[in-house]
Amino acid sequence: TDPETFIRGLPKTDLHMHLEGSIEPELMLELAERNGIPLRWDTADALRAAYDFHDLQSFLDLYFEGCKVLVTERDFRDVTSAYLARAHLDGVVHAEVFIGPQSFTERGIPIEALMRGVLGAMDEARAQHGITSALLISVHRHRTEAEAMAVLDQILPWRDRVVGVGMGGAEVGNPPSRFARFFGAARELGFRTCVHAGEEGPAAYVREAVEILQVDRIDHGNASMADSALVRDLVERRIPLTVCPLSNVRLRVVSNMAEHPLKSMLEAGLHVTVNSDDPPYFGGYVTENLLACYDALDLSIADVVRIVRNGIEASFITTEGRDSLL
Ligand code: ADE
Ligand code: ZN
Repeated sequence: TDPETFIRGLPKTDLHMHLEGSIEPELMLELAERNGIPLRWDTADALRAAYDFHDLQSFLDLYFEGCKVLVTERDFRDVTSAYLARAHLDGVVHAEVFIGPQSFTERGIPIEALMRGVLGAMDEARAQHGITSALLISVHRHRTEAEAMAVLDQILPWRDRVVGVGMGGAEVGNPPSRFARFFGAARELGFRTCVHAGEEGPAAYVREAVEILQVDRIDHGNASMADSALVRDLVERRIPLTVCPLSNVRLRVVSNMAEHPLKSMLEAGLHVTVNSDDPPYFGGYVTENLLACYDALDLSIADVVRIVRNGIEASFITTEGRDSLL
């Protein structure tokens, strides 16, 4: 079999994926129409053409604009169902998906609508396709820590259904240390933790994430490679990095796929996984991400299998669940 068929057929995970960033253009238009939300684009192709970014902020602007089409419980259900169905076709057997409630609660959308829609779709997808999933609640680092603490309060009724908490948004100027209290409180409540670090920000932010926030996983983590002592710590402590190669190319974290640090990270012994981040915006799901790396970085099939196994090991689901995947 060819590499694409082989990679698509591997039982994979997607551990770094934002539900708000998973809305395909056709669904975006449908939801806008359904909710009477005006959009600046009237065709899927026009919308797709707007996915031309020069940095993280230019992407975030469009991503937050797209959030406006999600209003009702049904919308959250539809977006989650669409992603999980698509991921299942891509060979993903377990997905850990982020949603950031602040984009919605700030517009007066009740957290109940979001949680019921997302969790309902996750249950349905498991019954329908067999795909398992876990929910991660993420907060915005460009907002205050007090606002993040309020999110923690809002999700308490669902603490048994939320596996962990994370943080995304505009990285530079918003170091992990600014949210030390929030992550401490999240850990106290029994949530697993992860944080976006070292995407546009420096290795020092990854170090803060590990040492001050004591997170279980780093999202992205590319910049770690600039600090060999940090790499040693990450390897020793076996802290997983959820790398998103197509995202990194499209947000110009790297100039092209051939320059991507994934292979060096693997060779350094880092616990790297490959994930989709915001699939329609960046042009691919997990298989396309793995294939792009395989092609551009001269990975072996054994490297790809290693990365896929790393994903299963790095997941936040229980040991019992994980063993059945391995
Ligand atoms: N939110 C969604 N995708 C993100 C990314 N790649 N970095 C930071 N925040 C995000
Ligand atoms: Zn992300």
